[in-house]
Amino acid sequence: MAMLNVAVLISGRGSNMQALVRASHEPDYPAKIACVISNDPTAGGLVWAQKEGIPTAVVNHKDYGSDREGFEAALDAVIKKHDAQLVCLAGFMRILTPWFVDAWRDRLINIHPSLLPAFTGLHVQQKAIDYGAKVSGCTVHFVRAEMDHGPIIVQAAVPVMADDTELSLSERILEQEHNVYPIAVRWIAEGRVNIHSEKCFILGEGEPPSLICPMIR
Ligand code: GAR
Repeated sequence: MAMLNVAVLISGRGSNMQALVRASHEPDYPAKIACVISNDPTAGGLVWAQKEGIPTAVVNHKDYGSDREGFEAALDAVIKKHDAQLVCLAGFMRILTPWFVDAWRDRLINIHPSLLPAFTGLHVQQKAIDYGAKVSGCTVHFVRAEMDHGPIIVQAAVPVMADDTELSLSERILEQEHNVYPIAVRWIAEGRVNIHSEKCFILGEGEPPSLICPMIR
């Protein structure tokens, strides 16, 4: 089986990166985590990945000042050095310029803790609570130049409870993030994700479906 080489970009604890690494250890999983790259040298996820024996790299945005393309060119070089064919943003907290996004078009995906297109940006779990949304969740999507936009690959929906705090809702969503991100990578590695008119179509979609809707407790 041909393996898809994946670069995972993080900025923090990297729990989604860990979920991708764990999935990649499953028998028959068609993707390999080729490298973990952080823009922040203190990201906890780097230590975890190193212990797992995964190549890691730091491309510190602070070394590039306002030179965003210089930062992104350095990222691009590390990704290519590890022969990655797919880039997964996993809590990567830098906005990427159209240059990088276009260079990796349809090979760059992100996970976001809301049901896009609702609630973009930061603190989106609190935004869902403040809005009075009854359901929220997470989205894996191809990255486009506009932040938190792009063809949706898979979503999971979770209830928003009346007594939810930002933390409790974040935890409920995060559990589903760890579930859906490996599914999206698997489908891409299997060559089953097609984009037409900026919508994703999954070949032979069935189990799991591209809407995960766990039971309300
Ligand atoms: C995750 O909830 C991810 O969806 C979110 O940051 C968290 C990172 O956690 N990403 C964004 O908000 C991007 N817009 P992790 O480092 O444990 O994976």
